[in-house]
Amino acid sequence: MRKLRIAVIGCGRISSVYASAFFNLGKQCQPVLAVDKHLDRAEAFAGQFPGCIPSDNTDIPEFQALLSECRPDVLHVLLPHHLHCKYAAAALEMGIHVLCEKPIDISLEAADGMIEASRRGGAQLGIVFQNRYIDGVQRVRELIQSGALGDVKGAFSTLNWHRPPSYYECDWKGRYATEGGGVVIDQAIHSIDLVLYMTGLKAVGVQGHTARRVLKTIEVEDEADAAITLENGSIYSFFSCNYYTSNSPIRVEIDCENGTALLTLDKMEIRWRDGREEVILPSTGKRGAVGENYWGTFHEKQIADFYEALREKRTAPWPPEDARRTLEVVLGLYTSARTQSEICL
Ligand SMILES: NC(=O)c1ccc[n+]([C@@H]2O[C@H](COP(=O)([O-])OP(=O)(O)OC[C@H]3O[C@@H](n4cnc5c(N)ncnc54)[C@H](O)[C@@H]3O)[C@@H](O)[C@H]2O)c1
Repeated sequence: MRKLRIAVIGCGRISSVYASAFFNLGKQCQPVLAVDKHLDRAEAFAGQFPGCIPSDNTDIPEFQALLSECRPDVLHVLLPHHLHCKYAAAALEMGIHVLCEKPIDISLEAADGMIEASRRGGAQLGIVFQNRYIDGVQRVRELIQSGALGDVKGAFSTLNWHRPPSYYECDWKGRYATEGGGVVIDQAIHSIDLVLYMTGLKAVGVQGHTARRVLKTIEVEDEADAAITLENGSIYSFFSCNYYTSNSPIRVEIDCENGTALLTLDKMEIRWRDGREEVILPSTGKRGAVGENYWGTFHEKQIADFYEALREKRTAPWPPEDARRTLEVVLGLYTSARTQSEICL
């Protein structure tokens, strides 16, 4: 099996999770290029893999010249949110597949630009929502798709996490222009994605509120709530805040005709109306083994799945249009909060 040649742009916090995945998937992939605007970070990342070239050439023509030289099959985009489209599109146009961190970008125009670049370049674009790979999430999606759980009647998600002021002491977090928003677009976007993914339903409307209640040094929201209308008319109730005392386990519940499925962190409990109870725990991975506990353990699964799809010349099972839809809900929530009105999606 030919190893896929791998490039990475952005060697910050999340890059340790990728380095660990590349080690574990060493038979399938070979990192050949690591780029960061801080050369020392690119060097630290590249230094872990023999033959991997570090670079701080981040102007697009120079970056594309580097890609031509190193000939990666895949580029992983691990950059601040507002830069996702810029670098992903540059690679996609060259026919290089891209797996990009969430959110797809911070505007629908940028998301469309990425999807269009992927079509033009004939290269695949995937967006990382690793929690979709939680075993219980997969099970509930199947039970809803097969009709076993019956119609979706409603859903809720809550996220109470802790981000100290120091988390925002960098050049992009906490600002609309670069992060695109706060707790919703950065952290709770996973919960929104999970509800849409498990139910298989589109969101058609959103009424939301945002506030900056506690983290006074940031420009963006540290709290948000919303009532999100799903296409079958059911309501998804959403809450998130970033100023809790700790990173409490996220909770996502889907209430269906034949039972209720509650996800707490990565443990799924299904309570059927007929009295049966099912508990589904992750079959692999140890939380916090690499990176932060709350990132979960499923990056490697999504990366491996992307590589397998590429090798087998099939489409990865999560089209970028899904990530665009999730972003549309996030941006709709922000517009609703700003205009104090319900937004149709
Ligand atoms: N899926 C998850 O659960 C998860 C968890 C954490 C982070 N993320 C995502 O990963 C991405 C990166 O987050 P992070 O926490 O690692 O951020 P970070 O700030 O720690 O890292 C970003 C890196 O990009 C570099 N950079 C900035 N501009 C650049 C440019 N023009 N060219 C090259 N390098 C540049 C910075 O120097 C920095 O090293 C974000 O999209 C974030 O949402 C996802």
